[in-house]
Amino acid sequence: MNATPPAAPPERRRFLTRLSVGLSAAVGAVLGLPVIGFLFAPLTRREPRVWRPVGGVDEFEVGKTVTVRFDDASALPWAGVTARTAAWLRREDQSRFIAYSVHCTHLGCPVRWVAAAELFLCPCHGGVYYADGTVSAGPPPKPLPTYPVRVRNGQVEIQTSPIPIA
Ligand code: FES
Repeated sequence: MNATPPAAPPERRRFLTRLSVGLSAAVGAVLGLPVIGFLFAPLTRREPRVWRPVGGVDEFEVGKTVTVRFDDASALPWAGVTARTAAWLRREDQSRFIAYSVHCTHLGCPVRWVAAAELFLCPCHGGVYYADGTVSAGPPPKPLPTYPVRVRNGQVEIQTSPIPIA
């Protein structure tokens, strides 16, 4: 005995097809838009630039290069201690300071200042920078980036900003 159900009228079938396609598209949009927004947000977000105090002017000796630590302005709210970053700060004279990024321009490893040799050394692949941040040897493609530095009310301040890595 043949018991196939009667076919739905064409109008009803067309309506149900459109309804299911429309609902699928709506669900896809609801689920997909946040993902697309997350993926493209870095392209449209402007990185904040914030002045961070790193110490009193009198704490820094002329001609010396020392590490200073501060919070990255572009860190995500849940970054925790990874929001801490650093720079190599040198006092050039009574009023001028220069702050070098600690991140090697090759692959971002932290560089170390070796005062005896007056060089910045990168432990990862042997990158070497002169005291002025220019490349001396190894794979780094660019000099060490510098941060803007100013003195306000007796405090040395560094303007945090994204560091371009090659
Ligand atoms: S990361 Fe510094 S030389 Fe490669």
